[in-house]
Amino acid sequence: MRDQFLLDESIVFLNHGSFGACPRSVLAVYQDWQRQLERNPVEFLGRRSASLLTQSRSVLAEFLNARTDDLVYLTNATSGFNTVARSLNLTAGDEILSTDMEYGACDNAWRFVAEQRGAKLVSVTVALPFDEEQFVEELFRAVTTRTRVISISHITSSTALIFPVTKVCRRARAMGILTLVDGAHVPGHLELDLEAVGADFYVGNCHKWLCAPKGVAFLYVREQSQPLVHATVVSWGYSASITQHADIASITGTTLLERRLQWQGTRDIAAFLTVPAAIEFARARDWRAQGARCHELAWETGLQLAAQTGLAPICVARDCGQMLAIQVPETDGALLQRRLYDQFRIEVPVTRHAERLFVRISVFAYNTRAELAALCGALAQIFAPAPA
Ligand SMILES: Cc1ncc(COP(=O)(O)O)c(C=O)c1O
Repeated sequence: MRDQFLLDESIVFLNHGSFGACPRSVLAVYQDWQRQLERNPVEFLGRRSASLLTQSRSVLAEFLNARTDDLVYLTNATSGFNTVARSLNLTAGDEILSTDMEYGACDNAWRFVAEQRGAKLVSVTVALPFDEEQFVEELFRAVTTRTRVISISHITSSTALIFPVTKVCRRARAMGILTLVDGAHVPGHLELDLEAVGADFYVGNCHKWLCAPKGVAFLYVREQSQPLVHATVVSWGYSASITQHADIASITGTTLLERRLQWQGTRDIAAFLTVPAAIEFARARDWRAQGARCHELAWETGLQLAAQTGLAPICVARDCGQMLAIQVPETDGALLQRRLYDQFRIEVPVTRHAERLFVRISVFAYNTRAELAALCGALAQIFAPAPA
C-alpha cells in the first residue's frame, strides 16, 4: 500500500490526520482535470463547471447518504465552518454552546462572531476519561433559553475522541436549537450517514482521510436551514435576475446553495472534481476492513504505551477511530515532536489538552505494525529513567 502513495520512504508517517496524503493514482486524475481546464479555461470554467461539479457532488452525496442539493464544495473545513458561523443571525445575548475540545481556528471563528454580535461562546469542559453519556448530559446541562446553536466536533483534533453527534443533533432539534458539526476528520475515516446524523450544518474534509488532493471539503446544509446560509465571498450567484442570465446560471448552478456558495470567483476546481476518484480508490481497497485493522493497531499501540508509561487511556476503544491521542509523561511537547522526527524519523504530532500531553497517532492503510513498534521503542528510549 505504501508504494501507492508519494510519501517519503525514509519517514515513519503517523500523521495522516493533519493533512492527509494523496495516492499516486488519485493525484494523476487531479492533474488530468487541471490539464483539461487549461485546454480551454472558458469552456471548462465558464460553461461546464456547474454540471461537472454537480456530477462530482452526486457521487459524494451517495457516499455520505445525503442529497446532492444539500452539499457544496469548499476548499477546507475552516472555510465551511466560517461560512456557517458568520451567516447565522445571532443577536446580543444569544449563546453558542460548544466544548473545550474544539479546533482552535473554529473557536476563533466563533469568538470573532460573538464579539461582533454581542453573543456569548459557552464552552463546556469535557471530562476525561471520556464517557459518552456523561458528555451528552453535561453538554445539555449548559443549554439555556438563549442557546441558539450547538457547535461540536465529530472527531476532536487534539484528543481524537469521537463525539456522539447523532444523539446531540437529535436532542438539539427537539429543543429548536441549530447544530453545526465539525467533521473535518470524518469522511473516509468513520462510516458517515449525514441523513442519520441529522445536523443542520456539517463540514467535512475530503483532503484528510478520503485522500483527495489538498483543497477540497464540503459543507452540508439541511434543506430547511439553507436560507440561513450566506457565502463569506459574495459573488455572481447573488445577482437578483440570476435565472434570466444564462451565463451566470451556467457557472453558479441552480439551487439556492449552489447560487450562493459555488462560484467564489475564479479558482482551480480540479480537486473538487477528483473526489469521485478518491472514493473509488477507497472502495476498490475495501476501506472498511482497512479501517478496522488500523483501529485495532492504533488501540493496541495505545495499550502498549499505557503499560509503558503507567498513564491510562483517555477513552475506551469504541470512542476512537484510526486516530488515537495517547498520553505521555509531562515534557516540552514541541521538543518531543522535534526529537521524534529528527532522531527517529517519526512524523507524529504532539498535542496538549488541559494539562495533559499526548502523542496523537494516525494509523492509515499504508502503516505497519513495525512502524508502531518503532514509535513505542522511541518513546521508551526518550522517557527511560535517567541512569542512577
Ligand atoms: C477538528 C478539526 N476541525 C477543523 C480542521 C481544519 O481543517 P482545514 O485545515 O482543512 O480547514 C481541523 C484540521 O486539522 C481539525 O482537526
